[in-house]
Amino acid sequence: MTVEETPETVAQALQHALVGEDLPDSFTLLGREWSLHRGVFPSTLSAATEVLASIVPYPSGGSFLEVGCGTGVISVTAALTGCTSVTALDINDKAVANTAANAERHGVSDRMRVLHSDMYAGLDPSDRFDVIFWNVPWTYVEDDFSLSTDLHSAVFDPGYRGQARYLAGAPEHLSDGGRLLLGTADLGDRERLDAIAAQSGMRVELLHRVRRIEEVRVMEYHLLELHAK
Ligand SMILES: C[S@@+](CC[C@H](N)C(=O)[O-])C[C@H]1O[C@@H](n2cnc3c(N)ncnc32)[C@H](O)[C@@H]1O
Repeated sequence: MTVEETPETVAQALQHALVGEDLPDSFTLLGREWSLHRGVFPSTLSAATEVLASIVPYPSGGSFLEVGCGTGVISVTAALTGCTSVTALDINDKAVANTAANAERHGVSDRMRVLHSDMYAGLDPSDRFDVIFWNVPWTYVEDDFSLSTDLHSAVFDPGYRGQARYLAGAPEHLSDGGRLLLGTADLGDRERLDAIAAQSGMRVELLHRVRRIEEVRVMEYHLLELHAK
């Protein structure tokens, strides 16, 4: 979101991309064809999904958890590139169905579990992962902003409470030596994220910075790693 944009104008502009009548049922990304269900964040809306899917260090032979899987591009890519067990979860039940469809489409359902879950709530307390990742809704809005549609939950994070919960809950689901990663952009509020991390006893490391020239502006996508202090 730029300074001239309000959350409402961003939501209006993106509404079409979520439920527009003329949306295709599939899209091409990373050399593969992906199913797209109505009401799910389309993974080509920005370059974020493509960039992050390409640079996340998937644990080959290990376990991967994706929070907020959306269409499932990142989780399915993890399964296709050597993770033996992938858990994909989303608060949006349409995203859960969309990810399951793409797991089936690309023949990795045997290695994937797809859950309808608000953050870690749907996991078993004993579930542990080698890498946990979320391509976050990076737009900061005030705490009382209402997440009235699936679009809002995909794009806005009121008070950065979602990201705070992501960080706070991760340690009990990381295996020994496991890594906690977060995908965001330069439009996110990095100072706020650093403060949240500090509250969880973590520090933030920038692993990758990828710059893309897009229609509206030059965008920078960031892959961050959270470390215990
Ligand atoms: C920016 S979208 C990324 C979607 C997908 N990973 C991609 O890259 O195309 C953020 C996703 O996080 C999900 N989400 C938001 N809050 C969540 C929560 N509390 N628990 C689980 N998923 C959540 C949204 O529904 C949305 O699918």
